[in-house]
Amino acid sequence: MENAAQNRNLILIGMMGTGKSTVGALLAEKLGYRMVDLDVELERREGRTIPDIFANEGEDYFRDAETAVLHKVLEDNGQVVATGGGAVLREGNCRAMLNNGYVVALSAQAESIVERVRSSADRPLLAGDVEGRVRKIMEERKDAYSFAHVTIDTTGVGAGKVVELILAHY
Ligand code: S3P
Repeated sequence: MENAAQNRNLILIGMMGTGKSTVGALLAEKLGYRMVDLDVELERREGRTIPDIFANEGEDYFRDAETAVLHKVLEDNGQVVATGGGAVLREGNCRAMLNNGYVVALSAQAESIVERVRSSADRPLLAGDVEGRVRKIMEERKDAYSFAHVTIDTTGVGAGKVVELILAHY
């Protein structure tokens, strides 16, 4: 764990439903790092939920707020940072992640993502036809996560095993 020795941030990116928050919490516990879930941090700062922000302010406002929170969080070290799936849509954010941490992309097959996100009502981008939206967004973002230092396919893999796989690289 050459990166852990330097308390280098471990940053999780990837599509919605790839397990960033679950895996992040387990990783933080193992490493003795602070867990920062960017969506949670953003909601705390805004004093309202993500669906609320999308509904009242729109996606551009959300992306600006997400970008501001990400840059602020990356001023610190020794954290596991679970980002929202769209945090990679701004190039400056990707650069900031690479400069301030070890970036791990979690991937999964569409069927597996659909299964994981189906019951949650807190993702405005998936409202309506969940499967159709997941497939469309995956297509739009097919190269968006490839800047990561390493990519871990989580399809059919439990969170504990994903943690092990990540720590083998970190
Ligand atoms: C989004 C992903 C969500 C959240 C918002 C937008 C996206 O986070 O930030 O609903 O654009 O992929 P999760 O990836 O944690 O679900």
